[in-house]
Amino acid sequence: MCGIFGCILKNSNVAPIIHSSLKRLEYRGYDSVGIATLHNGTIHIKKDQGKIDEVHRIHNLDEMEGNVGVGHTRWATHGAPLKVNAHPHVDCTGQIAVVHNGIIENYSELKEELENAGHIFVSRTDTEVIPHLIEEVLKENSSASLTDAVLAALKRLCGSYAIAVISAKEPEKIVCARNESPLVLGLADNAIYCASDLTAFLPMTNKAIIVNDGELAVLSGSNYEIKRISDGITVVRQPKIIDWTPEMAVKQGYPHFMLKEIHEQPETLRNTLRLQEHYLDLMATFLDRANEVFLVACGTSYHACLAASYMFSKLAFLATYPVYASEFVEQHGKSVNIDSTILAVSQSGETADTLAAVTASQQRAATILGLTNVIGSTLSRVSRVYIGQQSGPEIGVAATKTFTSQLSILAQLAFRLSKKRGKISQDEMDCLAEKMEQLPQIVEAVILMQEEKVKALAHKYKDAKIFFFLGRGVNTATAYEGRLKLMEIAYVPAIAFPAGESKHGPISLIEPGFPVIFICPKDGVTHKTLIGNMMEMKARGASIISIIEEDDEEVKKLSDDYIEVPKGIPEVLSPIPFVVPLQLFAYYMALEKGLNPDMPRNLAKSVTVK
Ligand code: F6R
Repeated sequence: MCGIFGCILKNSNVAPIIHSSLKRLEYRGYDSVGIATLHNGTIHIKKDQGKIDEVHRIHNLDEMEGNVGVGHTRWATHGAPLKVNAHPHVDCTGQIAVVHNGIIENYSELKEELENAGHIFVSRTDTEVIPHLIEEVLKENSSASLTDAVLAALKRLCGSYAIAVISAKEPEKIVCARNESPLVLGLADNAIYCASDLTAFLPMTNKAIIVNDGELAVLSGSNYEIKRISDGITVVRQPKIIDWTPEMAVKQGYPHFMLKEIHEQPETLRNTLRLQEHYLDLMATFLDRANEVFLVACGTSYHACLAASYMFSKLAFLATYPVYASEFVEQHGKSVNIDSTILAVSQSGETADTLAAVTASQQRAATILGLTNVIGSTLSRVSRVYIGQQSGPEIGVAATKTFTSQLSILAQLAFRLSKKRGKISQDEMDCLAEKMEQLPQIVEAVILMQEEKVKALAHKYKDAKIFFFLGRGVNTATAYEGRLKLMEIAYVPAIAFPAGESKHGPISLIEPGFPVIFICPKDGVTHKTLIGNMMEMKARGASIISIIEEDDEEVKKLSDDYIEVPKGIPEVLSPIPFVVPLQLFAYYMALEKGLNPDMPRNLAKSVTVK
């Protein structure tokens, strides 16, 4: 998730406006920044790695001439957060500059094709193919307009994008376009803007136009024209007056970042399906060769590791050991050796306990693999191979979208390894791959269909003093995660166990009305045994709340309340949609108690002390 911005002003330089607008978009990404303006028929660029204020201190972003320009604040996906990878990116002639938010899936093929045609690339980004593609179109057809060239280039791209393009040859214009990444236009008397979201231009104007997927907009003077990318036909759309405050705009109208981030999960899951195959392959190769594999993390990331241990075992027949990072050195410090592999999972890449486990393992010559949301973080730097999970910044303290992304990537790794090892049939692989592709829509459906029900559930149980979360198999991890969310956001004590363990002690807590939440997908052998556990609880008067598949009539009958998830999800993937109602439940329980879910007491987003 990056932020893009473009602006044409009638009478003054755009750079200070771009700078201040990028500041408002900084929550979308902040590892590097850049601005390009058009002045006297030339494109001028200032860009560097670092946060906007740092880059401004060195380069004075306001001191650039020109009344047309574009800017970018970056959250690295392809290529480390270095100056060379910062946007804008230009073609070989330096006459076309592009800023981009999204992921170009087929950039390797395009880059190879363009390099063979003589184009010189300087960055490691996927974005750089775009200016070169536009240049190539213009080379082949010198009478084509910038708009035609952008339209032609976009037809070659697979993936997601919101882009803004300027050209020295048509210096009064910005051409912008969108597919699966947000883009809005802002209209003012003496200016026109395009941006990743309204936040960027809201202090200047509240007159906005949403650009839809598959559309391109040409801005010139203070006019705009929207066209369909598929056939270039003009689309008529009137502006709307937006009555959001700037604070509401940063949260895109959501009352809290946590809710916004829960709702972003279809998009962030889509991003995980666009990972570069060779990183997954490389990591799968390391895992395949490993003698012993430890999955090391804290908190929510640990729950992703716990789920992953089931995925690796079931799909790839690989035994892995999920370990709390804070316990790792005590538990395994002496036995780790050159044959050990540590897959460390950390959203921030800076969690002190996780890094301590990694450092101790490195000292004993173990192989370090990393999964993190922050490229450039310590974890990404110390890992032999790392995968960036591409979830964009997570601002709510409670991890939500980054958890489901971690699960999705770990499941993909398990698939890869399974393929490599020939452990499951082609049919099973195909079915899993198909379901994996459907997960973004499934999660979208869960949010759309169940949010109100979950809200009502939170209202009903708002005074409960304690909850039980029970799951079996891979959904033991979901149970743990549901409990953690509820405790940290709504301050409600909760207990989670693998359901089979409940009768070895915890069941003694049960008395009439005690709420027990069961995570109960239908696929796999755990369904039957979980029903047995439900009956045990019911017999003792517990209130049964179950998260079930749509047509699970048997469990519906046993439940006092239930939340439904679309059916047909393979068990190994089920934590991804099944955790979403639990995230929403914690969120609405916090609201019921008058708490701010974005800022739970005593917690920090990144825990950098041991
Ligand atoms: C819970 C939560 C924390 C983190 C934990 C690890 O919602 O956010 O439990 O999961 O502090 O953080 P990372 O993943 O950054 O290492």
